[in-house]
This record gives sequence, C-alpha cells and structure tokens, in this order.
Amino acid sequence: MAHSVSSLVNKKIVNYVNECAELMTPKDIYVCDGSAEEYHSLCELLVKQGIFTKLNETKRPNCYLARSNPADVARVEKCTFICSEKEEDAGPTNNWMAPAEMKAKLNGLMKGCMKGRTMYVIPFSMGPIGGPISRIGVEITDSPYVVVNMEIMAKVGKKVLDVLGTDGDFVPCTHSCLAPLEEGQQDSTWPCNIDNRYIVQFPEEHRIVSVGSGYGGNALLGKKCFALRIATVMCREEGNSLAEHMLILGITNPQGKKYYITAAFPSACGKTNLAMLNATIPGWKIECVGDDIAWLKIGPDGRFWAINPESGFFGVAPGTSYKSNPNAMKSCEKDTIFTNVALTEDGDVWWEGMSKEVPKGKIITWLGKEWSADSGEPKPNLAHPNSRFTAKVENCPVGDPGYYALEGVPVSAMIFGGRRENTVPLVFQSRNWKHGVLLGSSVASETTAAAEAAAGQLRFDPFAMLPFCGYNMGDYFGYWLTFADKVAADKLPKIFHVNWFRKENGRFLWPGYGENSRVLKWIIERCEGKEGIAVETPIGYLPAKGALDLSGLDVPEADMEKLLTVDCKAYLSEVEKIRTYHSKFGDHLPKDLIAELDALEARLKAA
Ligand code: GTP
Ligand code: MN
Ligand code: MN
Repeated sequence: MAHSVSSLVNKKIVNYVNECAELMTPKDIYVCDGSAEEYHSLCELLVKQGIFTKLNETKRPNCYLARSNPADVARVEKCTFICSEKEEDAGPTNNWMAPAEMKAKLNGLMKGCMKGRTMYVIPFSMGPIGGPISRIGVEITDSPYVVVNMEIMAKVGKKVLDVLGTDGDFVPCTHSCLAPLEEGQQDSTWPCNIDNRYIVQFPEEHRIVSVGSGYGGNALLGKKCFALRIATVMCREEGNSLAEHMLILGITNPQGKKYYITAAFPSACGKTNLAMLNATIPGWKIECVGDDIAWLKIGPDGRFWAINPESGFFGVAPGTSYKSNPNAMKSCEKDTIFTNVALTEDGDVWWEGMSKEVPKGKIITWLGKEWSADSGEPKPNLAHPNSRFTAKVENCPVGDPGYYALEGVPVSAMIFGGRRENTVPLVFQSRNWKHGVLLGSSVASETTAAAEAAAGQLRFDPFAMLPFCGYNMGDYFGYWLTFADKVAADKLPKIFHVNWFRKENGRFLWPGYGENSRVLKWIIERCEGKEGIAVETPIGYLPAKGALDLSGLDVPEADMEKLLTVDCKAYLSEVEKIRTYHSKFGDHLPKDLIAELDALEARLKAA
C-alpha cells in the first residue's frame, strides 16, 4: 500500500503523521507519491467536488480553474506570526505571540478540524532532490487543491522519502482549512475559516502551522513560509547561506560566455518580468532559473551558488500578456492551475490586461457570476487583481539548464530595486559588499495615489523581504554584513541597484521590459572588469557617458541625462529617511551599517 502510513519508514514522519491524526481526527490518511496519475485523479476529484472547472482541452490542455472564497484571495500579513521564544527575536517588522500561547490557541482550533476529510501527507523537496542547497519538508493538509498546487511548485513523492531514509530530518508544515465536515453535510466549494486564519512560524523549532486559509502563500507552505521565513532562520544558523526574495537569471554574451544574476524587487515590481526577459540587444540571451525565490550557499570554490527552490511559477495573472511577458504566457498554455481568473464561453481563461478586447460571449467572473460585453451592465473586475497561475518551470520556453543543476549556478551579480519616480538613477553599482548591504537595507517603493498612504511617500521594504524575514530584520542586516569577512572580495557577487520606474509628468523615462537587457549588459561588463565604463559618484558607480548601449533605442538625450544623474540634494533627504527608518531597529541595527550611511552622507555633503 504505497499511499498508507504503513509505507512510511522515517521515524520522525511517522510520529508527525500520528500526532497530526490524533489531534485533527481525519476520516483517512493518504501519503502522496507525486505521480502524474495521482495528480490527475486529484484534479478529477476536485472537479467532482465543484472546486475545479476543467478548461477547454484543445485550447488549454490539462488546465483547471479554481474560484476561491471571495474573502480568501491573498496572503494575510496581519494573520502572519513569527513565534520566537523572545519577542525581540521576531523584531519590529513581524507580528509576534509567545509560542506557548500560540500553540494553545492553535490546538484549540485544530482539535477535530479534519473530521470527515482526508489528511494528505506531502513529502517535498525545495530544490533538486538530494542537492547540497536543497531542503526537505513534509506538508500535511486537508485540501486537495493544496496538494495539486504543491505538486507543481515543489518536487513531491517517493524520491524525497528515499533521500530522508529512516532518520533524515525535515521541516514539518501543518495546514488545515479548519472546516470539519459533519456526516451528510454538503461541502463548500472553497473550504476555509476566514475569522480564524493564522499563518505561524516557530523559528527555533523550524516548524510551520497554517490554518483557516486555503490560498497561495498562506497554504502552499513550501513557498513563503518555508523557503523564506524558516529558511532565513536556518541559513543564519548555518552561517554560509542565504534565502532571498530574488529571481535568478542566466545571461549569455555574444561571445557565448554565461553569467548568473539574482535580483530582489518588492512584490509587483518586476521580478517575473525580468526573469523571463527577451533581450532587445543583438547577441545577448537571457534564460530563467527562477522568478521569485533564491537559495544561495557558499560553494567549494568560495563563490555564492544559487538554486531556485521552487519547481513552478505562482504568478500574478492580470497584466500578463503575449506583449508584456510572452514567456510567462507560454508557460501557462498547458498543465496549469488558474485561480480567480475569468472563464470564457469557449472554456478558456481571461484576465484584465491579457488582451485589449474583452472576449465576446458569456463570461463567468472570478466571483462565479455571469457577464457579457453586450449585457449593458458595467464591466466588473472579471479576474481578481491578485488572481494567479500555477505553472511548471519545465514549460517555460526560456528555462535555463542551470535550473536542473544539483549544485546550483554561480552568482556574479546581485541587483536591488524598487519603484521610484524620483531621485534614484536607472542603475548604479555599490562601492563594495557592505555598501551593497546598505542598498539592500534601504530598498523602498513610492506609494502611488491609489495606495492608502499619501502619494510619493517612501515605503521601505528592506531586501524586498519585509513580510518574509523569519527573525529580527536588524539582525538580518548584520548577518548579510558578515559575508564581507567570510568571502574574499573578488569572489563576492557585485551589488547593483536599478530603477525602471523614473517618471516625469506621469510618463516613464525608461522604456523598460526587454530594453532592461541594456542595463544587464553594463552590469556584466562591470563584472568582467571592462575599463572606462563607470564614473564614481557619492552614491556609487554610474555608467560613464556612452557606456550604456543605447544603439537602436529612441530615448531622448535629456531623458537619459536625468536617468543617469545623481541629485545630491535629493539624496541627502533620502539619507534622512533611511536614518529614520533604520532607527526602528534600535540596538539590533549593525554599527557597520550606521557607518555606511554616515559615510554616504559625508560623500554627498562633500560633492
Ligand atoms: P511577486 O511575484 O508578487 O513577488 O512580484 P514580481 O516582482 O514578480 O512582479 P511582476 O513581475 O509580476 O511585476 C509586474 C508589474 O511591474 C507590472 O505592473 C509590470 O507592468 C511592471 N513592470 C515590470 N517590468 C517593468 C519595467 O521594466 N518597466 C515598467 N515601467 N514596469 C514594469
Ligand atoms: Mn513574480
Ligand atoms: Mn514574491
């Protein structure tokens, strides 16, 4: 019986499964093998339960649509907790509750919570199975929707159990929708428990418990909960690794030499777009290793090596089109799960921004309501703004072979960036690693008029990790700084900052998207040590005049001038904002970082 608990040989898993079953009292237990047959039979079950709609097999082979409860549509940060023993260790950027108190609360909620449901056991590897940077988790869930999404987003099944053997260790990840089924009770099409959502990380125990929500980052526990929050904690304990909200891309120059770059931008600031870029400059090729998370570790050669711990893309659908990101569109042409997008009359999917014209005929919105362009009713959101596709990395037409490498890929450069209308140039390079850590710690995006805060205000999102760091963010800055001493300067990745979002009178100064390959080219040339392409400024190195390849590009010289000039006065006020933000970390703010900021201020004043 491959799917029964008796097939499990790892003692810790057996205990974990038994404890979970005792508390949550499911009607049966199923151990997942990750096979294609299993995936298909679970999808059929989801169709039967009314959770999945099968899409048109000719247009979208092997694709399904799910509609969530309208209140369960995104990560919920206010329900996300880091439960370290000491509050100080969670830091000022995380919600905290004492572990004993949280466990008592969770135990109360979880008693009998799987009644009438199957408890699925999902052994999964984040990263290539058995690789030196990969890690193993076991998710327990009562949601078959979670199982099929996990089977795309992670490597699931027997091979993972083989690597664990009888004594191997793993991260236990427990999930329940908290929706027990009484005998004869009609099931909901999206079981959840909105008022009792808790997404909890216990950093000292490397343990995750998430209840009440069935959606994305709240329920697919390999992703943000494990691959970022718990992994940041594990990395710091190990001392030679990092877990980051970073894309990984391979870039090949016209001579055929290949480099790898990672980049951290806050959510909705262009990671998926950059990771799958079609380069516009002749002879350069960009390939995608990952679009959201990177795990890095110092390899035997002293350099940082990176893997994409995920096996799929959990991408935002709206705005994705064959024009804006053709490679993402091609990735979800088959074998994809869509959540909260619109269903067209011919059994295909649609979302805002996929095409200029709304498809003709009857459309079922993400809320399950009928609408059509000629109904005379005003057009509602047909897809939810946070609707998603779950697609396989294997189906990405620009997948990088490095994705499959057990030991990962060597990283030459790291990029930070955010959405900045003003002040921040198109691209600049940090003076050194520690100065680069200052850049990471001060990543920020400007709020738009649409956001709650006043427009033009800076919202800091250090390292693009604000909701994802599993410990005190001040200590995290300190941990990043330690690599200046652990790794030889010539082996450390060079650190850059980019800004695709400079605006004037509401117009973007830089065309962005495929044209960003020009910026990547300069970054690679800097890594190669090409002479005469950079000028030193108070904030770091900027492209020298003519050093950025603009051939065939139609950007007015005056705009380029603005994109590549340092406004020292504006930067001095930036320094003040950073200082105020940093002060929130109190004693946990590293002295070296304060010194870096002081030095930046002094350089700006002297200029
Ligand atoms: P998460 O997956 O949520 O972590 O976010 P992400 O960083 O992957 O964001 P994504 O690539 O989905 O960002 C999409 C948004 O950024 C869309 O509004 C894009 O139009 C915009 N965007 C991406 N690249 C560029 C660019 O080069 N220039 C401009 N102006 N906008 C861009
Ligand atoms: Mn993305
Ligand atoms: Mn993300």
